[in-house]
Amino acid sequence: MDTGWILVERLDSAPLAKSCECRDIERVKNQWKAAGINPEKSKQTFGNFQVWNDYSQKSKDVATTYYKDFQNIRSSRRNSIMLCGQVGSGKTHLCIALALNFLNKNIKVVYMPYRDIITSIKQNMLDDEYYKNTVSKYQTSDVLLVDDLFKGKINDSDINIMFEILNYRYLNHLPIIVSTEFSVEKLLTFDEGIGSRIYEMCKDYIVEVDKGKDNNYRLR
Ligand SMILES: Nc1ncnc2c1ncn2[C@@H]1O[C@H](COP(=O)(O)OP(=O)(O)OP(=O)(O)O)[C@@H](O)[C@H]1O
Ligand SMILES: [Mg+2]
Repeated sequence: MDTGWILVERLDSAPLAKSCECRDIERVKNQWKAAGINPEKSKQTFGNFQVWNDYSQKSKDVATTYYKDFQNIRSSRRNSIMLCGQVGSGKTHLCIALALNFLNKNIKVVYMPYRDIITSIKQNMLDDEYYKNTVSKYQTSDVLLVDDLFKGKINDSDINIMFEILNYRYLNHLPIIVSTEFSVEKLLTFDEGIGSRIYEMCKDYIVEVDKGKDNNYRLR
């Protein structure tokens, strides 16, 4: 069993127990806190997610099935999940619930609130090291949660940055959890390269919530 500890040999004394995995998890949890979500105190849990219409039922079913299937599909081509459509339908809530369950099992899920991150990457475009480190963080995490993909006006740099991140994950079979207000059809019109990769990865676990205020939990 992986205890999260490794033994480091020291010539002059007894082996020293040093945390490896646990320290990585701590680092990832601190990144979540920096983004305004405390993984230990979040209210966005499966337990708090009410089934109040057909879509909330379907979204919850797909998210929990994905969670149960994860260890079996983790390295496969279709190892990802996407919740899309209507604003306020609980997409982010379920994505965060999933992510925090994974974190509790020591799976490092990095949170990427799309709009904030894309803005800060573009603002720091000339800082090569910042760019490489940031992009690499999102490329290589165990799982990446992209929240609100393509929110706001999008241009070529947005597409290029997201392609760099998502194509790396696509090529290396690294799972993504995506929330977006856009349908698959619409994602394909923004950029077919990105849209079709996401679709292929998420194919088995996609929910598209129909647009309509009736499906907005905030307005129920
Ligand atoms: N079925 C539900 N049960 C309990 N709370 C819910 C449910 N659906 C949504 N909420 C709550 O309503 C608010 C809006 O949900 P959420 O942010 O997940 O929606 P969204 O689909 O991500 O919307 P947006 O497209 O605006 O990002 C959140 O506070 C969330 O916790
Ligand atoms: Mg959201």
